[in-house]
Amino acid sequence: MSHTLHLTPTSSKEETYHSLLPQLKALIEGETDTIANFANISSALKMTFGFFWVGFYIVKKDELVLGPFQGTIACTRIKYGKGVCGTAWKEKKTVIVEDVNQFPGHIACDTASQSEIVVPLFRNDEVIAVLDIDSEHLNHFDETDAHYLQQIVKLLES
Ligand code: SME
Repeated sequence: MSHTLHLTPTSSKEETYHSLLPQLKALIEGETDTIANFANISSALKMTFGFFWVGFYIVKKDELVLGPFQGTIACTRIKYGKGVCGTAWKEKKTVIVEDVNQFPGHIACDTASQSEIVVPLFRNDEVIAVLDIDSEHLNHFDETDAHYLQQIVKLLES
């Protein structure tokens, strides 16, 4: 089985997400292993958008543990309510941070990171993991990212 992403380089961000979504669905279809799917989704997002860091943290007891990712070496454990990831888990909602230096308690795994979006994944109304994306540019993420990344993580929730 081989997969290639088909995207138009000149497309807008919204068009890119729109065309990526069904391709991601096809990419993980038929694969039931969550780690394998987290790994391929991280890769596909990194390949498509060139984000600085893309990856998953998985809920294990009272903390988040580093899962599959693409990017520089990262912190392995984050407590409930801590950092941007722990906040998205606690508040059960997507968190967009325009400037991580202004976010109280932000956990700097890599000082190059300037802005961030964290999207929780749910099963039975409980957060089971979070998708974390970092950019080395300020104010990189907006409601378009939130909207499509929420659609993307939905593919992983079942
Ligand atoms: N900045 C995150 C920690 C994870 S790294 O960015 C990969 C946070 O504050 O939760």
